[in-house]
Amino acid sequence: MSGLWPLARPFLFGLDPETAHRMAVRALATGVMPRAPAPDPKLRRRLLGLDFPSPLGLAAGFDKNGEVPDAALGLGFGFVEVGTVTPKPQKGNPAPRVFRLVEHAALINRLGFNNEGHDAVHARLAKRPRRGIVGVNVGANKDSPDRIADYALGVERFAGVADYITVNISSPNTPGLRNLHEANDLAALLRSVVAARDGAERRVPLLVKISPDLDDDALEAVVRIARDSGIEGLIVTNTTVARDAVAGHPHAGEAGGLSGRPLFAKSTAMLAKVRRLAGDDLVLVGVGGIDSTETAMTKILAGADLLQIYTGMVYRGPGLVREIVAGLPRLLARQKASVGRARAAGQASA
Ligand SMILES: Cc1cc2nc3c(=O)[nH]c(=O)nc-3n(C[C@H](O)[C@H](O)[C@H](O)COP(=O)(O)O)c2cc1C
Repeated sequence: MSGLWPLARPFLFGLDPETAHRMAVRALATGVMPRAPAPDPKLRRRLLGLDFPSPLGLAAGFDKNGEVPDAALGLGFGFVEVGTVTPKPQKGNPAPRVFRLVEHAALINRLGFNNEGHDAVHARLAKRPRRGIVGVNVGANKDSPDRIADYALGVERFAGVADYITVNISSPNTPGLRNLHEANDLAALLRSVVAARDGAERRVPLLVKISPDLDDDALEAVVRIARDSGIEGLIVTNTTVARDAVAGHPHAGEAGGLSGRPLFAKSTAMLAKVRRLAGDDLVLVGVGGIDSTETAMTKILAGADLLQIYTGMVYRGPGLVREIVAGLPRLLARQKASVGRARAAGQASA
C-alpha cells in the first residue's frame, strides 16, 4: 500500500472522511496490506510489564471497535489502542462530524464516541490470538447517570483481553466529560478504576489520556493525583478545542477536537511539562501531530516513552509507520542512544 499511496490518497480524499476511514478499515480487514519487516531490536522497550517491539503505536479512534488490531500491528506498529469503547453501543453525533483541513495536515472531529459497546468489542478481542500489544481505551456513555461507574465497568470488562487500559477523560465531544480532570472528580475516578483493576482477573496496567487544553495549575494537579493513584502512566494528549493554529480556515469554526500538525507544538510542550512534573514515576505516551521521524524523535526528547499517531497516517498513508520505525534507529544512532537513553538525555538537557 505504501507504494500505492500516491494513487490511493487522491481517491480517498475524494470521499468524505468517514467513508474514507471505513474503506481503510475494510482494506486492513481484508488483509491486502503487506506486512512490515520486524523493527530494529534497538527500538525494543520493556514498559508496563510488556515487551514493546517498537515505541510507535496506533492511537485510539482509528479502530474504535477492535475490528483490525492485528492487521494494524502488521503495518509495523509496536502496539495498537482499540476504542474508545463505552458500556452501551452509541451512535455518536450527527454527520458531517469529521473535517479535513488539508492545508494544515489536520482534522477536526466531533464523532462523540460512536462505537459498538463493551459486549461486541470484548467478543472480538476475546477471539484474537494474543500476539502483539493491544490496549483498550474506555469511556462513558453520553447519557450515563454515573460516568465513573462506566469507566470502572470498562476496566473490569477488558482486563482479561487488554494488555493495558486507557481511561479516556479527554474527548471534547461528550459534553462535560473533560470536567473529570478536576481534582476531586479525578481522584474519585482513579480510586474507582484502580479498585476495579485490583479486583479484576488480571492486574492490567492503567493509563489516563489527558487534554492539551489544561492550564498549568490544572495540569500540576492532574499529574500529582495520577502519581498518587496507583495508575501506571499518562497519554499526552487528546485533540484540542483551540483554533489559533488554524485561524481563518473555512473549517476552523467547526465544533470538535483538532488533531494533526497544528497540535504538535501544544501537545509536545505539555508532554515536556508532564515529564518534569512526573519525573520517572509515570510512563508517558506522546501523541499529537507526529508526521515524520523528526517529530517522533522530538516527542521522545520531550519525555515520551512511547508514541502514538493517527492523523499523520491519514495524510501520509500507512508508509509513515515504516518510515518512522526505520528512521528512528538512524536518528538514535546519531545520538548514540536507545529510545530510553535519548528520552532521559532529553530531560537532562531540558
Ligand atoms: C477521527 C478521530 C477519532 C478519534 N477518536 C478517538 C477516540 O475514540 N478516543 C481517543 O482517546 N482519542 C481519539 N482520537 C484522538 C487521537 O487518538 C489522538 O489523541 C489525536 O488525534 C492526536 O494525535 P494525532 O495528531 O496523531 O492524530 C481521535 C482522533 C481522530 C482524528
